[in-house]
Amino acid sequence: MTNEEQIKEMVKQKYSEIALQPKETNACSCCGSGCCSTEVYNIMSEDYKQMEGYNPDADLGIGCGLPTQFAKIKKGDVVIDLGCGAGNDCFVARAETGETGKVIGIDFTPAMIEKARINAEKRGFNNVEFHQGDIENIPVSANVANVVVSNCVLNLVPNKQAVFKEIFRVLKVGGHFSISDIVLTGELPEKLKTAAEMYAGCVAGASNKKEYLNYIEHAGFQNITLQKENPIMIPDDILRKYLTKEEIAVYKVNPIIWSITVYAEKKDCDCSKAKIAVSKFEEGYNCAQAVVYAFADEVNIDKNILMSIATGFGAGIGRKQEVCGAVSGAIMVLGAKYGRKENEPIDKTETTYNKAQEFVDEFTKEKGSIICSELLQGCNLLTEEGQKSFQEKNMKREICFKCVELACNILQK
Ligand SMILES: C[S@@+](CC[C@H](N)C(=O)[O-])C[C@H]1O[C@@H](n2cnc3c(N)ncnc32)[C@H](O)[C@@H]1O
Repeated sequence: MTNEEQIKEMVKQKYSEIALQPKETNACSCCGSGCCSTEVYNIMSEDYKQMEGYNPDADLGIGCGLPTQFAKIKKGDVVIDLGCGAGNDCFVARAETGETGKVIGIDFTPAMIEKARINAEKRGFNNVEFHQGDIENIPVSANVANVVVSNCVLNLVPNKQAVFKEIFRVLKVGGHFSISDIVLTGELPEKLKTAAEMYAGCVAGASNKKEYLNYIEHAGFQNITLQKENPIMIPDDILRKYLTKEEIAVYKVNPIIWSITVYAEKKDCDCSKAKIAVSKFEEGYNCAQAVVYAFADEVNIDKNILMSIATGFGAGIGRKQEVCGAVSGAIMVLGAKYGRKENEPIDKTETTYNKAQEFVDEFTKEKGSIICSELLQGCNLLTEEGQKSFQEKNMKREICFKCVELACNILQK
């Protein structure tokens, strides 16, 4: 088991227990790790009780914000709640989407999903669904949601970048998310780390705030806005156990653990590069050349040279229907943009490798493959028969144009 898998197993274990215990046991602690302060204090200072749709059976007291309040949900919307627990935010969201909308809760802890389903059944809701699944790989198809919400979950997930990419995938163009989470704004004093984790329960996996916002931007989101930010003040009785008076004073003016609610939009792609590439493809250039042409002005390499290399590539690998030409064109663009040049440090290779891998992962997620023959659904262009069925089915227009468009849109993000 990898380290990440072990973390996920621990998280599942912990939330299986939480699903079965009363709210009071979790209530004074974000993420439900158990309360260890004698002071009456609740990190989740947000109160759901006044929210329409509030369902006390679904409120386990384990959130750290109130994302649904800021999520601008409209009647008829499809809303996805990531790490839904027993469905607290789903039922509030459902009150806003009404009968004509739909709410989908995702959680990887079976006991949570079971509890959430019982809660929905009790209310007789037939437009609130709960699915078991890992939000690093959301079990929902692309472009289905108007709104994604999540409450105090991503801090528990090892690969936050993957989750934001998934959110981008499942949102419709024009959709948005509102997510409450825990982030850090600096290094917690070593002495306080365990105490803070015991107290808040969601500090160990929390990212630095800047890094967190970078993940969002990198996934392609725009109009990223912090809707709410609250410092999480560890109570004095806990601080006193670990820090001196002076250290407490310093910590208090510079709180490091924050609860934030962040919003961002999936805007319509301007698709300008895709339009250029598609027109070149229509002119008769191969798909690798078309993609390369559209991005040639962004790289410091002569356009004609790059186009010639793409021709060779298209003629070699592309003709044999191995790697999709649009994908190979995109990899060439990434190589030309980020690739290691003579005398540059070796870590440039790693950067290019990561960029290319991210591209391939995203393309595969959308299309299921980067292999040309698979994308063409078994149509073998090397045989006369295959060529004929390719022409008859007008596959070039249907499939290759879509691949050229997709490759450009991923590169343009
Ligand atoms: C702190 S609780 C919050 C639950 C709910 N959002 C609420 O406010 O009541 C975190 C939830 O996220 C779920 N979770 C954590 N990591 C997950 C992952 N990778 N995929 C799906 N669910 C996950 C846990 O099972 C747990 O139910």
